[in-house]
Amino acid sequence: MARIEGIRIKNFRALRDVTLGKVWSQQEFRPLTPMTAVIGKNGVGKSTLFDAFGFLADCLRSGVEEAFDARGRGGFEHVKSKGSAGPIEFEVYYKEDGNARPITYEISIDQDSSGRPYVQKERLRQRRKGQKHGWPLSFLILNEGTGVVWRGETEGQQIDEGQTQFDLVSYLDKRKLAEGNEESRETEVVELDDKRKLGIATLGALKHHPRISAFRRFIEGWYLSYFTPDAAKSLPLAGPQRHLNIHGDNLGNVVQFMEREYAGKFKSILDRIATKIPGIRKISTTKSDDGRLLLRFNDKGFQDPFYAQQMSDGTLKVFAYLLLLEDPEPPPFLCVEEPENGLYHKLLETLAREFRAHAMNSRSGSQVFVTTHQPYFVDALDPEEVWVVEKGSDGYSHVKRASDDPIVTGMVKEGLPLGGLWYSDYLDAR
Ligand SMILES: Nc1ncnc2c1ncn2[C@@H]1O[C@H](COP(=O)(O)OP(=O)(O)OP(=O)(O)O)[C@@H](O)[C@H]1O
Ligand SMILES: [Mg+2]
Repeated sequence: MARIEGIRIKNFRALRDVTLGKVWSQQEFRPLTPMTAVIGKNGVGKSTLFDAFGFLADCLRSGVEEAFDARGRGGFEHVKSKGSAGPIEFEVYYKEDGNARPITYEISIDQDSSGRPYVQKERLRQRRKGQKHGWPLSFLILNEGTGVVWRGETEGQQIDEGQTQFDLVSYLDKRKLAEGNEESRETEVVELDDKRKLGIATLGALKHHPRISAFRRFIEGWYLSYFTPDAAKSLPLAGPQRHLNIHGDNLGNVVQFMEREYAGKFKSILDRIATKIPGIRKISTTKSDDGRLLLRFNDKGFQDPFYAQQMSDGTLKVFAYLLLLEDPEPPPFLCVEEPENGLYHKLLETLAREFRAHAMNSRSGSQVFVTTHQPYFVDALDPEEVWVVEKGSDGYSHVKRASDDPIVTGMVKEGLPLGGLWYSDYLDAR
């Protein structure tokens, strides 16, 4: 499974310059773990981090202008860090699988002279085959919608240290001299007709750019959960659907899909989930006379089943999360904001362990990213997996990894639970 080793975000709301994990520009950091939890007081920037991932995915799907207006973001002016100069920038460092050479994706987004947001720069690079160290080769460079892309799996151009801006004009001139035309076998000159759309969206649709396609598919596959129990209580028309949608209102349809596609395995999946939800004996589905799909839960205390509409919000939520983790084709990256809301505290450690066990499965598990306020959830985690967000005196967010504090790691080694340490103020700034 593809994994994000790190992300650097600049000028995105309170995140003026924040790095989580290892990125190309900060190689000394350790990569993100399969499971990452972000904790911190109110208003420090946890939701902003969650939304930074959502924003990037929205940019890819619908272009930057729509992304700024989507999900109540309120346009460029509101999203750009207040009082900070320069464009909004992201750097994503990722690997297609455990053995792949890491790829760095960089994007800068700014306003044009009329105030409309556009993609100022985009770049993808990867280290040479067989090299563990050394300067990576750029294989996509776009400045102001114009640039060069290198075809295939291995080609690229080394851009020397200190050379921040790729000199496209001189590059093309050299090519012209060398080959008598503007294009070569391995490169292609690109001119986008819409600077509000990402180059990786357009070029990633082409077969002869496999690395760009893989990266595009990776971001397209991200799943950010906006689950609401009310949505899950709606009565969808029966009809199998492969994946749970972000609000969870197709819960029954996903159950129906799994029932049809994985007939043998499915009953044991539901049975397994039932054992993890307190008070539930059995989960099954039935169709109403008018063709709607009903999810049935057998409560330990009652003979007759309850339907999803009568179930408690927390039960439905746990069911939805566990079902998400049982998806035979899970998303590569799964983000959940405050999964604890509405859940009984003793269930949280179980949920954290489920998320983590899923994430640790490097072959078929999603990388998991959660924000949380709940020490019980954090109790199940290791200091390397937990990031503390704080607001600095400058008003911007700062992050630190719990494992960077030797006192904290020492106490966890001695058997103290991490959430308990957080509760006792060992994790926040002292
Ligand atoms: N454009 C901006 N520039 C700088 N700071 C901003 C900008 N927009 C919002 N903020 C600040 O970002 C902060 C972080 O908000 P966020 O919603 O991410 O906090 P949170 O950690 O999720 O809090 P909670 O635990 O209450 O959900 C807010 O306090 C707000 O003042
Ligand atoms: Mg929040």
